[in-house]
Amino acid sequence: MLLAVPNVLSPAQVAACVADLEGADWADGRATAGAQSRTVKHNAQLPASSPVAQAWGDRILDALGAAPLFVSAALPHRTFPPLFNRYGPGQSFGTHVDNAIRPVPGTSIKLRTDLSATLFLSNPDSYDGGELLIDDAFGVQAIKLEAGDMILYPASSLHRVTPVSRGVRLASFFWVQSMVRDDSARAMLFDLDQTIQQLGSTQGIDDAHVVRLTGIYHNLVRRWAES
Ligand code: NI
Repeated sequence: MLLAVPNVLSPAQVAACVADLEGADWADGRATAGAQSRTVKHNAQLPASSPVAQAWGDRILDALGAAPLFVSAALPHRTFPPLFNRYGPGQSFGTHVDNAIRPVPGTSIKLRTDLSATLFLSNPDSYDGGELLIDDAFGVQAIKLEAGDMILYPASSLHRVTPVSRGVRLASFFWVQSMVRDDSARAMLFDLDQTIQQLGSTQGIDDAHVVRLTGIYHNLVRRWAES
């Protein structure tokens, strides 16, 4: 399932984040790439130890915790501390799949990457190219969102970033280990949850059928969730 989560960061937060990123110390993006993706990755990235990355990573995690659409879709168990990348003119990231397991820096935790996320930080009018292309069951999806919006997609999918031909594309990216590993099961839970929310808003959340559907939702989570 591909899902755009709008307004994870407000315009004011995006502006402050971009200002901090512009003054940060960028490194070669290949530092965190696996053996295959290293050969096709051409961008810059903030080291995980960067104070700017850590401060804005924490703010993004706080924002995600307060984003019901993200929580409903991802059912997050663990979220990787957000990283930041920068593509200037001529830079791109060829077709690759993200590593299945990521050690969380500074901890003994190994996170299974069920979902990948890209939070766009540059206004789409400010750069050309830089689309995130994701292969899914319905073909190739081209993603270029407003600054502050985020795309959530299965980490199992092949994806790439097309060359930037003008301007600079800044983004944050990270992974989520979901409580529900199976993408189709998670997608059904999301669909059910969203339907219950809509029914609840018209029928009232104490409507007997809404209560029963809510029970079914939680019983399915109980059946499928690992923590
Ligand atoms: Ni990737």
